[in-house]
Amino acid sequence: MVKPDGVQRGLTGEIIQRFEKRGYKMVGCKMVWPSKELLEKHYADLSGQPFFAGLIAFMATGPVVAMVWEGKEIIKMGRMMLGATNPQESAPGTLRGDYSIDVTRNIIHGSDGVDIAKKEIGLWFKPEEMFDYKSCLKEMVY
Ligand code: TYD
Repeated sequence: MVKPDGVQRGLTGEIIQRFEKRGYKMVGCKMVWPSKELLEKHYADLSGQPFFAGLIAFMATGPVVAMVWEGKEIIKMGRMMLGATNPQESAPGTLRGDYSIDVTRNIIHGSDGVDIAKKEIGLWFKPEEMFDYKSCLKEMVY
């Protein structure tokens, strides 16, 4: 998910391009201005953290671009492409390492496990908003 800061800074195209160029397949994509209720469900595991209220408030400041990507080891590789949560620790070459300096405004969210991805997809997407289609990348990816 491109966070509100990523959308407002015009980084959505660059983020999508990095995943596409690497060989991943987009199967869902939508712009959403999320409610605090949706964000509280999305980040439920962090509700006890001191930064929780600030995180929810920030994430509700504007639209995000929610996406579903498919391909070999997408979760592990996607997290690698994002970089560390805190941009001060994100390696250059990663999205956060190249485009952010603040832990809250770290431009992008990525699911951190298969079960978490399933939960998050269920929160953000209806089944009919995702598409099973043939991609010329398929031979490369699998
Ligand atoms: P987390 O799920 O730990 O990281 P990630 O986004 O890499 O999966 O945290 C969720 C978001 O919470 C994180 O992207 C930015 C914000 N956050 C803070 O604002 N302060 C913090 O100290 C941490 C750890 C996270």
